[in-house]
Parts: sequence; structure tokens; C-alpha cells
Amino acid sequence: MIEEQRKIFFKKGWLKLNTFVDKNFSSLLNDLEANKIRGKFQLVSKYPGTFDIRPSAYEYSDLFLKWLLFNNIPETINQVTGKKLFLKHVQFRISHKTKNNYLNWHRDTHFYNGMPEHGNIPPVYKLIFYPRSKDTHIEKCLSISDSSNIQFSFNNKVDLIKALLLRSRHSHASTGDTIFFDTFTMHKPVRPNKNKKQMRIIYSFSEVAEPNSKFLESLQTDFIKMFYES
Ligand SMILES: [Fe+2]
Repeated sequence: MIEEQRKIFFKKGWLKLNTFVDKNFSSLLNDLEANKIRGKFQLVSKYPGTFDIRPSAYEYSDLFLKWLLFNNIPETINQVTGKKLFLKHVQFRISHKTKNNYLNWHRDTHFYNGMPEHGNIPPVYKLIFYPRSKDTHIEKCLSISDSSNIQFSFNNKVDLIKALLLRSRHSHASTGDTIFFDTFTMHKPVRPNKNKKQMRIIYSFSEVAEPNSKFLESLQTDFIKMFYES
């Protein structure tokens, strides 16, 4: 089973995982969907039409980390990648219905000819969960160009055109899905259309521990304590 998942992940650059949400997490998400947010925390816009918990989702509630644990995500993604990953960041985002997608096709990390290098090296992995509440319609939330993780053009226009034209290779994550993907793949978030807004919880994982950042250090320490030393 895990070998099959590892093959799919390597060949396509992504994998969907089965996850569940307990009562507490579900009630937290319902509150956030209704813009009910406690104390010093705020929902702050990063891109047009999107709002993230600030200063951080991780500090807002430990349920974001517990969800990972309940669903055995750390072990699964380590086995699927064959690496020992560190949790780098947790973002809770509400994406509103807008005229345009807030990001077009892109790789989080790229190094195109004539352009400055961009993003983490090595590229990070992301796990995104698109929760579904009782009033939420199922709709597309993310598009991915299959196998673009193992096919890269140093010419940025060629790279983009390939992603745009090879529609037969487009895969999608929808409301209710949990998708784990290599951020070196070409991907784009899809704006809500049927829904007025849509929640997404974005976890980033890195092969590299980052001791200089206090936030990340404490996050990683807690993560290791929770998952490797218990
Ligand atoms: Fe991205």
C-alpha cells in the first residue's frame, strides 16, 4: 500500500490522503468560518480575497497539530517521501469568491534562466486540507499539473505553457479533500465559485530544520516531542 502511494507521489507529484475531523476541530472550524476568532488573533489578508490567522494558526489552537497526529500524517508523509520531514508552517486561510484566482500556475520554488532564484531549496512539501461544513458545496480548490515535479524547463514561458496546454494532465483537489504535494510541481489555487468562501489549512514540511527561527524551532520541537518522543 505505502509502496504504491510512494510510486504515485514520485511520478505525479501529489497524493490524496483520507483524513477525518473530530468534534472539537469541527467546532473550531465552524467558528472560524463564521469569522469568530478569539483574543489577540486576527484574520488578515495576504492575497486579494484571502484571510489568514495571524500571528499564527499554530498558536491559535493546538487542534491544528492534533489533527495531524490523529490522522497519522507525519508517519505517512515520511514513508511516502522516504525522508524525515519537519513541520515548517501552519496556515489557516479563508478564501473568498473573487473575480480572479489569487495566484496563477506556479512552482513555489523555481530557478528560471535570467530570473532570480525563488523559494526554498530543497523545495518544501505541502499538505492542504479543504474542510467541508454542512453548507459547503463540493467544488475544485486546487489544480496540479501531473508529473511537473519531474519535468522542468529552465525557460519560464515554456514551463508555463506546458502547464497550461497539457490539460489532460491536470488533476484537482476539491472541497473535503486532503492533498499532499511537492511544491516544485506546477499548481494553482482555484477560487471559490459555488461557495461564497472556502477554508483551507495549509501545512508546510521541510527536510531542513531551521534553528534560526524561534517560531519554527519551537514548532519543530513540539512536533518532534509529540510524534517521535512520545
Ligand atoms: Fe504555491
